[in-house]
Amino acid sequence: MTLSKSVRTAVFPVAGRGTRFLPATKASPKEMLPIVDKPLIQYAVEEAVAAGATKLVFVTGSSKRAIEDHFDTDAELESALRQSGKDQLLESIRGIVPPGVSCIYIRQGEPLGLGHAVLCARPAVGNEPFFVHLADDLISGKPGCLAQMASEYQRHGGSIVAVERVPKADTSSYGIVAIDSNHQLTKIVEKPAPENAPSNLAVVGRYLLSGSIFDKLETIGRGAGGEIQLTDGIAALMSELPVFAYPFKGTRYDCGNKLGYLKATVAYGLAHAETGEKFDEFLRSTIS
Ligand code: UTP
Repeated sequence: MTLSKSVRTAVFPVAGRGTRFLPATKASPKEMLPIVDKPLIQYAVEEAVAAGATKLVFVTGSSKRAIEDHFDTDAELESALRQSGKDQLLESIRGIVPPGVSCIYIRQGEPLGLGHAVLCARPAVGNEPFFVHLADDLISGKPGCLAQMASEYQRHGGSIVAVERVPKADTSSYGIVAIDSNHQLTKIVEKPAPENAPSNLAVVGRYLLSGSIFDKLETIGRGAGGEIQLTDGIAALMSELPVFAYPFKGTRYDCGNKLGYLKATVAYGLAHAETGEKFDEFLRSTIS
């Protein structure tokens, strides 16, 4: 079956406390941590726009003003760069939000969990299918992970969660799924201990969800860790509508923890046109 529907809305939950990155995240959001020269949230926006999103919904909390400022026009800075002839830098800040793309900011009063953060986006999303993108899961892939999922959606519709195999010992850090031969979810559990995990197939920070998820999130209540869990909303959704697991093509860096963030910095620093060669030399001389 070919569906002509495309997904136009992307939700970015950015209201978490980011405690694993303290003190860096005390006054400044985790999503503003840079990988080489762009903050994580900008990589996220670029991936969503490349997948066709034109409405970007940020669910923010306290200490997150920097994210709004980043996507706002800074006329003073633009004029200073123009006057000093720094055209390339000027372009790099002017293209942050492409024409035709709008940003909406919604406040999550208290960080009650990822499911609650997604529910906060309801007034801006409506009943349409939408992407959810967790900026601290940085995925390098061509096309980007959300674009890959949008193609999957064209093929079979439904809701889709991106998945990756993880070491069995790590299942307690993820939502873990069981799937049938069509990759349709038969089970999803939040952070199971390895002995209770239905598999080692972990959900990562990319989702394409039916608008029906909101009714589920309204009623599920608190789950693992006392938080309103997106995983529990998906578990309720899949009893009525199909949810598929999509093993994305690309490399994921968990930038919510220090080691993952450092790995991403090395990989992106080596791939960067400006820094790649010299950084490669530096790393070789440091390691030898
Ligand atoms: P994390 O599990 O990484 O939590 O949230 P966190 O609070 O950001 O970080 P730590 O664990 O304290 O270090 C996954 C995603 O969900 C968002 C976060 O901003 C992150 O993008 N989130 C989480 C919310 O927006 N609201 C919440 O209540 C919880």
